[in-house]
Amino acid sequence: CLPVWWISVLIVCLSSPLAGREAWNYVEVRDGAHMFWWLYYADCQSVQSRDLPLVLWLQGGPGGSGTGFGNFEEIGPLTRDLEPRKSSWVQAASVLFVDNPVGTGFSYAQNPEAFATDVSTVASDMLVLLQSFFTERTEFQSVPFYIFSESYGGKMAAAISLEVTKAVSQGTLKCVFAGVALGDSWISPLGELVLRGVLTRSSSLLDDFGLQDVNAAAAAVKQAVEQQQFLKATELWSVTETVVEQNTNGVNFYNILTQQPDDRLSSPDDDFISLQTRRHLRPLYRQSLSELMNGPIRKKLGIVPQNVTWGGQAEQVFSSMSGDFMRPVVDVVDRLLAAGVNVTVYNGQLDLIVDTLGQELWVKRLKWDGLPAFNQLRWTALDDPASPGVTGAFYKTYKNFAFYWILKAGHMIPADQGPMALQMLKMITQQV
Ligand SMILES: *[C@@H]1O[C@H](CO)[C@@H](O)[C@H](O)[C@H]1NC(C)=O
Ligand SMILES: *[C@@H]1O[C@H](CO)[C@@H](O)[C@H](O)[C@H]1NC(C)=O
Repeated sequence: CLPVWWISVLIVCLSSPLAGREAWNYVEVRDGAHMFWWLYYADCQSVQSRDLPLVLWLQGGPGGSGTGFGNFEEIGPLTRDLEPRKSSWVQAASVLFVDNPVGTGFSYAQNPEAFATDVSTVASDMLVLLQSFFTERTEFQSVPFYIFSESYGGKMAAAISLEVTKAVSQGTLKCVFAGVALGDSWISPLGELVLRGVLTRSSSLLDDFGLQDVNAAAAAVKQAVEQQQFLKATELWSVTETVVEQNTNGVNFYNILTQQPDDRLSSPDDDFISLQTRRHLRPLYRQSLSELMNGPIRKKLGIVPQNVTWGGQAEQVFSSMSGDFMRPVVDVVDRLLAAGVNVTVYNGQLDLIVDTLGQELWVKRLKWDGLPAFNQLRWTALDDPASPGVTGAFYKTYKNFAFYWILKAGHMIPADQGPMALQMLKMITQQV
């Protein structure tokens, strides 16, 4: 039960959705490697926004832009049409978008060596950015700091969280690191692939012949991963997707209730990198969003170098990381749990690219000592805040680990189920 003063605070907050302050800048994290960040202060006039947590949002790809897609299509204060977003996360947190890895969104590489080729470089680059951010904005050194992520952003978030934990304990980063949330995250790609056939089959999207084909394609990926041939595994992963595409008449990997748009379907003369960037970056760089970012937004920001285009280097980001792409990071999550970091996994029911069964599979294989007790618990249903009486999610939590099953959402949960995603943010950050 909230005290009366809190209710009036809520009313003030909800009635002034555009009142927040914002800031943005570049940090050169390595020679020629420039990373762009954009911060929105929590938009509440009456509560000091200092008292609300700081959330770093990481987009997937690799090469997807948080300042663009996450901001205008998912959780920022304004939609792509520059209308106020009702379920913006700035109601419950200050939100920091960073275009990472280098080359993503408005970030840019001045030479080919500046692109990251593995997730450990991604993590060390982000640490440099965060050191600069928290040193300049000392007001955030004492508020709870969370990392939220989506898709490949989850793999980066896990690695970054480990670096942050180390840096905080060594005193080289001043912040109160409170936890990481992995949304539809690319933690153990193999499990996803193995179960993709099962999920599609049980959703009436494959027949038995299709299931056989998908399983055979997934087995080839598994073999490449077991032989540590990660670039080959990335290529075979794209073949598996083509097999799914052919057998399902083009299901959309991002939401199984929809159809893959024609411009993302495979064509006979594709090389796998351009096919995969078309499939997995184009949804994040839609034309309408590009026009906004390279038009009015770039003008408003005023600091983007003339020869830098939003999204201009995204494909190079993806291809530079392609040898690291299929490498699992389950061990990193185990190290976070062992270090006492609060870890949340959340996944959309309708996601096929990172399906929920695949997430449960790697969670069941964690070495975390709380796992047996976690497995003994039953889940709890949550009402969808947008439709009271209708189930919006299930969740389960034990010690420093939680799992949220988000219903009626595909890969991009806040875009599909905004109010439920905001409610989850408040639960994870202990505001409800
Ligand atoms: C933009 O131009 C500057 C100056 O000529 C150059 O140093 C820089 O590498 C260019 N940046 C990109 C992303 O091409
Ligand atoms: C982690 O989550 C638990 C609740 O599950 C909470 O009591 C604790 O304060 C959290 N730890 C941090 C560092 O925020």
